[in-house]
Amino acid sequence: MKEFEIGVVGAGYVGLATGASLAYLGNRVTLMDKDAQRIAALKRGELPIFEPGLGEVLAKCSKRLNFTVDLDPVVQAAEVLFVAVGTPMAEDGSVDLSDISEVARGIGRTLSGRDRPLVVVNKSTVPVGSGDYISMLIQEGTEESGGGEANFQVVSNPEFLREGSALYDSLYPDRIVIGADSRQAIEVMRELYRPVVEQSFATELDPRPKNAVPLLVTDLASAEMIKYASNAFLATKISFINEIANICELTGADARSVAQGIGLDARIGSRFLNAGIGWGGSCFPKDVAALRAISAEYGYEAIMLPAVAEVNERQHKRVIEKLQQELHTLRGKRVALLGLSFKPNTDDLREAPSLKIASKLDGCGARVVGYDPVAGKAAGRAVPELVIVHDPYEAIEGAHAAVLITEWQELKEIDLKRAGSLMQEPRLLVDGRNVYDPRKVRDSGMLYRGFGRE
Ligand code: UDX
Repeated sequence: MKEFEIGVVGAGYVGLATGASLAYLGNRVTLMDKDAQRIAALKRGELPIFEPGLGEVLAKCSKRLNFTVDLDPVVQAAEVLFVAVGTPMAEDGSVDLSDISEVARGIGRTLSGRDRPLVVVNKSTVPVGSGDYISMLIQEGTEESGGGEANFQVVSNPEFLREGSALYDSLYPDRIVIGADSRQAIEVMRELYRPVVEQSFATELDPRPKNAVPLLVTDLASAEMIKYASNAFLATKISFINEIANICELTGADARSVAQGIGLDARIGSRFLNAGIGWGGSCFPKDVAALRAISAEYGYEAIMLPAVAEVNERQHKRVIEKLQQELHTLRGKRVALLGLSFKPNTDDLREAPSLKIASKLDGCGARVVGYDPVAGKAAGRAVPELVIVHDPYEAIEGAHAAVLITEWQELKEIDLKRAGSLMQEPRLLVDGRNVYDPRKVRDSGMLYRGFGRE
């Protein structure tokens, strides 16, 4: 198996997981980030993010991993250069390409002194057509530095990893998508991903032999669209079940049984059908808004995408409504938020429903107390009115209501009897992720309110 010299620009979730998994598979990897503090921390063996298993793999592969703040030497040395920098959302939902453009010009400048071919692999989520734009910027960078025709190919290789299982998803993906116009670049990518495709390695994460992973080759634009379409579809699936759950509440049906019943249809599938307070994170909100903005640029008015986002916003508000139904005025009432990160096993608070709900509750005059195993401090900084405590029972003590926001394992396993005894009337538990057994909650002396269930 060939060992590649890999460069990774951007040491965020995607860059770190990509770099770690490729080093794990035997390649030499240099991770570059312009954030000097982040690189210094990585050099000391400290992880700048909370991601289970990632620190161990980085430590294990330390001989094959380097960290730097300089783009130049990374581009010089690499055979394959991954770009995994942020593409944040601008106010109007459009995608801010300034970081990726700066990197592309930088790559171009360095390429002016190099003959060997370079495959530039874009992992960042970019508007359809950006691959060509990146190529243009690289070529411009080369020309600005007095070079001629730069020897590179741009590939789109969208990332589908989920936070909290980033490493597992990198090593055991459902599929790999390669978008490229160059046959040579496609062959390099096939060779690089061969161990992942063939699953010809065992890891502590999963020693079981697997079926081959499909590797889909498309043109650049289609690969870029696959990323948006995947995330928009998953967000739609959740908003759909949330809409059904709201109708279930009115009609007396049970959303969990309904999800099970429709999920057994292989055409629908059972995953991503958990009703609750809705989705957040760094991808779904940004990508749904971006796809809408991209289509608007072409004069197409998307109908489903804004509806998907609106249903999600409404779910956050449903929490307040459920509290008001039992507590009536929220003024002066103590409400405990259990879990604050946008989902379990991550410290990420980007677009986290918890922050919006905490602000809304504060706006209604409630005293809001929050607990999260890892994201508490940052949440307290983001919403200063939110009082952060270090134990779930401390949050619940004296609360009129508690809301399960994030289904961390320790919160799923909370001692309900103890929780019930610590609260004050009406002892309401709003189960934002439908994880508790309503009967057990009631037996513990609390009122239960889930989403789309009794
Ligand atoms: C997502 C995609 O899954 C991943 O493929 C892509 O690369 C990045 O975006 P991530 O944002 O890490 O990953 O989280 P994910 O596990 O997909 O959950 C997203 C949000 O949906 C979370 O807020 C989660 O709580 C919510 N969710 C998920 C539901 O409300 N119900 C579900 O059934 C599933």
